[in-house]
Amino acid sequence: MRQNGPVTYPGLLPDDGIRRLRDALTSVNYTATGIAERLGPDVTAAVAKNDFRAALKVTEDRDPLATLIRLYICGQTEPRPAVARAFKDLSLDEAAGAELILEATDGITAGLDLEPYGTDWWILADLATPSAAQARRNTLRPDHVLGVGGASTTLANAVIRDSVATALDLGTGCGVQALHLSQHAGRVTATDLSERALRFAATTAKLAGLEWDLRRGDMITPVHDEKFDLVVSNPPFVVGPGTLTHTYRDSGRPGDGISAELAESSRELLNPGGTLQFLANWLHVRGEDWADRVAGWFAGTGMDVWVVQREVSDPMAYVDLWLNDAAEAGDPQRAAAWLDWFDAHHVEAVGFGLVTAKNNQHHSPVVRVETMRQPLAQPFGPQITQWFDRQEWLRSRATVDALLDTKFVTADGLTLHQEADHGPDGWDVTMQTLVQTEGLGWNEEIDPTMLVLIGGCDGTVTMGDQLAVMAAAYETPEPVMRSMAAVVVPHLIERGFIVPAAEPPTKPVAEPR
Ligand SMILES: C[S@@+](CC[C@H](N)C(=O)[O-])C[C@H]1O[C@@H](n2cnc3c(N)ncnc32)[C@H](O)[C@@H]1O
Repeated sequence: MRQNGPVTYPGLLPDDGIRRLRDALTSVNYTATGIAERLGPDVTAAVAKNDFRAALKVTEDRDPLATLIRLYICGQTEPRPAVARAFKDLSLDEAAGAELILEATDGITAGLDLEPYGTDWWILADLATPSAAQARRNTLRPDHVLGVGGASTTLANAVIRDSVATALDLGTGCGVQALHLSQHAGRVTATDLSERALRFAATTAKLAGLEWDLRRGDMITPVHDEKFDLVVSNPPFVVGPGTLTHTYRDSGRPGDGISAELAESSRELLNPGGTLQFLANWLHVRGEDWADRVAGWFAGTGMDVWVVQREVSDPMAYVDLWLNDAAEAGDPQRAAAWLDWFDAHHVEAVGFGLVTAKNNQHHSPVVRVETMRQPLAQPFGPQITQWFDRQEWLRSRATVDALLDTKFVTADGLTLHQEADHGPDGWDVTMQTLVQTEGLGWNEEIDPTMLVLIGGCDGTVTMGDQLAVMAAAYETPEPVMRSMAAVVVPHLIERGFIVPAAEPPTKPVAEPR
């Protein structure tokens, strides 16, 4: 989808240079499919594991595609004439001026990461491995532009891909989220604090033939007074003392302030019905419920919120991870200061997860903060849509009577797992677990009464009628059964264990002859 609106930032090359670069890349098939075809499935699989030995063998003839693969995928130094041929009408001086290549004594090396992404996109980013000079300084440059990493993919897979008129990628970096947004948003705005990142994003956009409105500034400042249908962000969410050495990682805000700030901005950023999705870290502070802390970020915003915690790290492992990430692991003082800050603020652990907020404008919004350790089917975005849809459905059944007056069926892929001990009287079931093989993949231990309730969800009778039968069978007063169900049934619906039965189609009325 072509975007309206200008690319307001210059790329790494003038527009004509980017056109010639694109021409060079497409003419030799330096695309995901072109590379996969050239290398074959086994070599492609080895490359995915950073084993380049076979790829180097099959690209020894150094035709232009082979040269680009050796340069940008395998990280080799390649002969000047071969690189010049690969860049076709883009001169080596132009390529060097755009940092695409670096002159070395024995040839040419990659200056940046330039890799195909999707079917007809390319992403430009700084090299993940520091250059020799940076390696000597033992760190990445402060404005290092991150390539597509695990976090980028986690967010991209979680974004709700409904068509929207306007979308914002806050902290765009190389532009990966904006590329995805271009496929379902009429207009894409992308912001970043880093001028370097915006020039990379502009290049990514122009290489893809897309036009984004690119703006520079801190957090929501560049879009002050504007609202969007969808806002996505993989911000510099790393938590700590607020030291700022690398823009891709550090926000300069102490603790988890950046994520709290983004959550608080939801009201300002979102159109009615709009969605904000971002990745975040949060502090687990001694004596405080981490879920209350994260829910508190949205206090007073009126948003419906679903926060999913996917990982919890201990402070030491967390600091090691992020110092390694920016090649700063050799700085023990930095690690000590970071860990001291955690100690001083009673931080016992750091959570990581995905935050989705919807501006549904209800008086009593749902704010659910929970841990999901189970593997999640990807892309996760459709599951998020369904979760919010289920909340809307529950809202539409505001009273217990309305809820229990509904017929339910069990969700597709729901299975029951039993554990039993064998004794003199045969098998004695000790534990029963409901396992979702589809949907959110929850598994929950379930008591026998609940199992009967769920087992009875075959779409033929209302939940209220099921409860009446069970009340008689268990000799329990029906109101007791109903008040238990008033708590349990919404939970079962929210997690997708049972779903409202589809109404049978009404018989068409015969047309009079
Ligand atoms: C983790 S990178 C994410 C890049 C990309 N969006 C992705 O999904 O991979 C975070 C980005 O936020 C930018 N950034 C850092 N501080 C910022 C701030 N205060 N306001 C806006 N952007 C910021 C960084 O320059 C960087 O490009």
